[in-house]
Amino acid sequence: MDTLEALTTRASPRQLVEPAPDEASLAKILAAAVAVPDHGRLRPWRFFVVRGEARQRFGDLLADALRKREPNAPQQMIDGERAKPLRAPLIIVVATKLQNHPKIPAVEQVIATGLAAQHLLLAAHALGFGGMWRTGAPAYDPVVKQGLGLAAEDSIIGFIYLGTPAGDPPPAKKLDHTASTVEWTAPATVGA
Ligand SMILES: Cc1cc2nc3c(=O)[nH]c(=O)nc-3n(C[C@H](O)[C@H](O)[C@H](O)COP(=O)(O)O)c2cc1C
Repeated sequence: MDTLEALTTRASPRQLVEPAPDEASLAKILAAAVAVPDHGRLRPWRFFVVRGEARQRFGDLLADALRKREPNAPQQMIDGERAKPLRAPLIIVVATKLQNHPKIPAVEQVIATGLAAQHLLLAAHALGFGGMWRTGAPAYDPVVKQGLGLAAEDSIIGFIYLGTPAGDPPPAKKLDHTASTVEWTAPATVGA
């Protein structure tokens, strides 16, 4: 698959099942992730690979965080939260470990990490796997951050669910950019 084909055909599958990317594929996916533009080469990203049994423990962490966030949450909701990591055989939690830098603001470090997350998805797609980027309240929850060893000021950019696509393929996209693209011409006041 060439680059443009990968870029224009990637989509979030309805279901992700076994097999997950194996070690060799995962190494390629992570190598692609760290190839992104990165101001100052700060490498602000962290990748937490969650798979196998650890998904259950991660579900416990999500359930714990929900209980603290919403003490009146019904048991059914807590059970649903606990089961979330089981929706795919492998999850990569992508986070920004924020660095205090005189020239490179937090937003640029977060952008670089977001690019890394997108490269993960694209590399997985190019290798024949599928992925889905999710966030929701757990991404902003201090209990979840603490469980991952992150500080409160660090950001979870996404939970990248990875596996083999299953179910009906997602509907084809209209790749129409025209409504969001303008040809800029300088107004008369510029340079006057
Ligand atoms: C930062 C970010 C967070 C997202 N969080 C969620 C989420 O929590 N739940 C969800 O259903 N989709 C979420 N999405 C969107 C999906 O990952 C997906 O991109 C979207 O459904 C469009 O489908 P596509 O990937 O096939 O274009 C998020 C996307 C981004 C970029």
